[in-house]
Amino acid sequence: MILQKEIQVNAYFDTEYNDPASMAVMEEYSKIEKVYRYALREMCAKLENLDDYCSVSLSHNPIHNIESRIKTKKSIIEKIHRRGYPVTIRTLKDLIYDIAGVRVVCNYIDDIDVIIELLMQQKNLRIRLRKDYITNPKPTGYRSVHIVFEKQMFLEDEEIWTPIEIQFRTIAMDMWASLEHELRYKSKMELSEDDKKKLKEYADKLYEIDVAMQKMYNENTKGEI
Ligand code: GTP
Ligand code: MG
Repeated sequence: MILQKEIQVNAYFDTEYNDPASMAVMEEYSKIEKVYRYALREMCAKLENLDDYCSVSLSHNPIHNIESRIKTKKSIIEKIHRRGYPVTIRTLKDLIYDIAGVRVVCNYIDDIDVIIELLMQQKNLRIRLRKDYITNPKPTGYRSVHIVFEKQMFLEDEEIWTPIEIQFRTIAMDMWASLEHELRYKSKMELSEDDKKKLKEYADKLYEIDVAMQKMYNENTKGEI
């Protein structure tokens, strides 16, 4: 049984982003937001089913937990502004791939590939973008695989390939990312170079543990799969 946490959509709208043009676009966006919501719901159900399938056919649950969220309107506008574009339905559709976002936390490193492989076999899904921060970690030490899938959806007979960003990581990678994010967020000033160096070292140590745990798992389940 996977623990599913749906992060509540924050309806709060900052006055800074209350300009009439952005508001009009977001009014229009409200009409299409439901497609992202449906796609997200179906994707989470698909992931649960795949985990269930693995538990039967491989005697192993690759997924530890799933989190999902719909990006807030404020955050969508901020991101478009940050990229230097005007807020329009076109820029929203072309630039923002993570309106529907899922985080899949796996038990072992190899479980990530198992789940991605199974998703790639789905007929109504295609990959738009893939960033592998496990093979190539970020300078901070951050590790995860980010994939933007497009899911075939139908709304009143119109076919819409809806983007959904999935972040795949292990429990150890998730622990590091959550605490590092909290530290950076809570810290009143920028983290010192020494702290950044330590955080990078901790990320590398956790990765060593991930690799060792994978090895132990493989040795203990040899011939069973
Ligand atoms: P944005 O989506 O605008 O952030 O830019 P991008 O698409 O270039 O981003 P990227 O591929 O770096 O992924 C961004 C997301 O990955 C963030 O929202 C975080 O969830 C996560 N992330 C990336 N780098 C770090 C990091 O150093 N620390 C932590 N804790 N999370 C990170
Ligand atoms: Mg992104």
